[in-house]
Amino acid sequence: MHMSVSPELTKQVSEMSLPEHLGFGRIKAPVMFRARCTDGVWDSGELLPYGPIQLDPASKTLHYAQQIFEGLKAYWVSSEEPLLFRPRVNARRLNHSADRLCMANVPEDLFMRGVEELTRICKPIIPRHQDSALYLRPFLIGVDHDLGLAASKNYEFYVLASPSEVFHAGTMRVKVERQACRSAVGGTGGAKTGGNYAASLLATNTAESEGHDQVLWLNPEKRNLIDELSGMNFFAAINNKLYTPSLNGCMLEGVTRDSIIKLAKSSEIEVVEGDLNIDDVLDAISNGSCTEAFACGTAAIVSPIARFHDRGKNYVPEYPKGQIAQQMRNKLLDLQEGRIEDSFGWIEVVK
Ligand SMILES: Cc1ncc(COP(=O)(O)O)c(C=O)c1O
Repeated sequence: MHMSVSPELTKQVSEMSLPEHLGFGRIKAPVMFRARCTDGVWDSGELLPYGPIQLDPASKTLHYAQQIFEGLKAYWVSSEEPLLFRPRVNARRLNHSADRLCMANVPEDLFMRGVEELTRICKPIIPRHQDSALYLRPFLIGVDHDLGLAASKNYEFYVLASPSEVFHAGTMRVKVERQACRSAVGGTGGAKTGGNYAASLLATNTAESEGHDQVLWLNPEKRNLIDELSGMNFFAAINNKLYTPSLNGCMLEGVTRDSIIKLAKSSEIEVVEGDLNIDDVLDAISNGSCTEAFACGTAAIVSPIARFHDRGKNYVPEYPKGQIAQQMRNKLLDLQEGRIEDSFGWIEVVK
């Protein structure tokens, strides 16, 4: 049964006008979902007007960073109803993050309820042209407010929605980060928690001031294997095979990464998951065997890497706009936007 919604909230959504250029994550739906967990028991959640939330200044989330989030999209381009792409994988990843941060798990049904109810009420503001979607941002915070260093017992789970265009990373110029680390061996790199992103900002700002767009993070153990970018996973095409770093606990298990691996295999492209030594990749670009590289994630889908920079030297793949990248992007969007049949069982329709 669908959630009952106040007529004012429904009216507010239907009267919202969207600007011509949405950008990514800038425009917020006037409604959000919230559920509360009190001493291990979740309520069933509700839709509320979007707005500031009340937090005690001593909340655990503010002091000890008990905070995790997710990102997924509802697409409504070529289908009769909005389509969610693998939302249950996000639900499971949220709980994987919750375990690492010692937080309560969000029951999958509750996660789905939040995501689906919000998508449903937001139907009037889901952008319906190609390369745009309703971006959904579930997040979980610990709200106990004594200052002792311990896990919270009480939590709030929210879902926000943002009518958005694809995040245009452009053809990226990437700096290999040889100094800073974003995550540690045994740390929280495999969880989607705010601290990982805060840890990435300084190196990214420095890289930007030097004329690059993004940082390529190396594994913190030996600093010679590629992990990922700050918000995207990494692929390289070498001798017509696709290589991507295997999951090692220091990087996020991307839904897009997993989907590309499966899509590539179904298109007879060989995929190798394993250690990807940065020096080998740069050598392969120099000798022409690595023809393209790209990053992938929910926000940007697939972003070709036009140039690598490492210790004063630039490396430009032969196909800086990426042919396999383009193929993977098209296949993924055709599925997500409902133009081709979903033989993988990845799509959930929001009726
Ligand atoms: C650090 C990091 N790696 C990879 C990804 C890609 O994950 P997904 O494909 O699930 O969006 C993201 C985006 O959420 C991310 O923040």
